Amino acid sequence: MTVTVGIDKIGLYVPQYYIEMTELAHARGVEPSKYTIGIGQDKMAVPPLDQDVVAMAANAAASILDEHDLLAIDQVIVGTESAFDYSKSVASYLHELLDLQPYCKAYEIKQACYGATAGLQSACDYVRLRPDRKILVVATDIARYGLGTPGEPTQGAGAVAMVVSESPRLLVLDNETSLFTDDVMDFWRPNYEAYPLVDGQFSNEQYIRFFSEVWKNYQEKTHCEFSDFEAICFHLPYTKMGMKAFKPFLEEMSEEERERFTARYQEASIYNRHVGNIYTGSLFLSFISLLENSSVLVAGDRIGFFSYGSGAVGEFFAGELVEGFENQLYIAEHKALLENRKMLTVEEYEEIFMEVVDS
Ligand code: COA
Repeated sequence: MTVTVGIDKIGLYVPQYYIEMTELAHARGVEPSKYTIGIGQDKMAVPPLDQDVVAMAANAAASILDEHDLLAIDQVIVGTESAFDYSKSVASYLHELLDLQPYCKAYEIKQACYGATAGLQSACDYVRLRPDRKILVVATDIARYGLGTPGEPTQGAGAVAMVVSESPRLLVLDNETSLFTDDVMDFWRPNYEAYPLVDGQFSNEQYIRFFSEVWKNYQEKTHCEFSDFEAICFHLPYTKMGMKAFKPFLEEMSEEERERFTARYQEASIYNRHVGNIYTGSLFLSFISLLENSSVLVAGDRIGFFSYGSGAVGEFFAGELVEGFENQLYIAEHKALLENRKMLTVEEYEEIFMEVVDS
């Protein structure tokens, strides 16, 4: 008997503050259209001083877990690149906060924005061998580049939590994936730096190169075409990024297919456009955005995913929507979370930002 595994539930948390990108553009003396069109961001989530990656992760996970999950979860895996401790993992705190059963493994994975994908694949492999068990995978990050830097408009904060199980009710993930690793210095944060060191244009180029590499490898392994997919979700540090990598492939497609993928891409970037970069969670935020903003998805649709983590690792993987997947969505809750946020002025945002640096 074949065991199907994948994502049974997916939850989101974003902080209650945000700033408008047009306001930030005015404050930085930049044309607002550079941020809203050139980068593709409308709002940027700002975490309050008393909210860290653990608090965001706990909120995202608590929004989806029930008592059965708490007893069946064998591992809590956290992907993050903005944790505050080099030794103790965010997962240990999360295990305690969520009151998970004690015979459980808790750990953290680091590989820039790729960490949660590594966690998800590891969770699937574990559940394939132990179909009665579940795993909680959480992506949680605060993206900070520094005031007035080129990376500033691509900041953000938030967490995505996923329950991985056998016979998942949302998305069955394929066994076959394609991976690509190369040691590149596009974005890194040595332990003596408060902010990452980043060569932004070089990192754009690497993202594009890695997408092309993993797609080529995926095709060689599976003989799939883009036409086999209803949508492709991308890691979105800013919403223009995935499109930059996808564009050469879109140009080779029929007009009908190009329009379909462009429409799905737009749906899959609505939430990211209003939250900003959440590093490890950005790909999964895009998936939630697609699920909750598209009216054309049906069970059986295949979704492709491109994960990229600077440094760098890329992966292309895929899954299939399950019958009744729409019952697993938290559309009203997530829309309320995004709509009920409080807007900060740029001065208020800067004050919070500098207080974190000084603390
Ligand atoms: N109206 C509309 N678009 C405008 C514009 C305006 N007034 N002014 C500039 N633009 C466009 C540019 O043409 C460019 O578009 P393109 O990417 O299609 O060429 C885009 O806005 C960005 O402008 P650019 O000058 O390239 O921005 P930048 O050098 O200031 O910063 C990043 C862009 C992404 C490099 C920077 O934000 C960064 O370093 N981010 C962090 C790293 C990152 O996210 N890497 C991605 C891979 S993980």
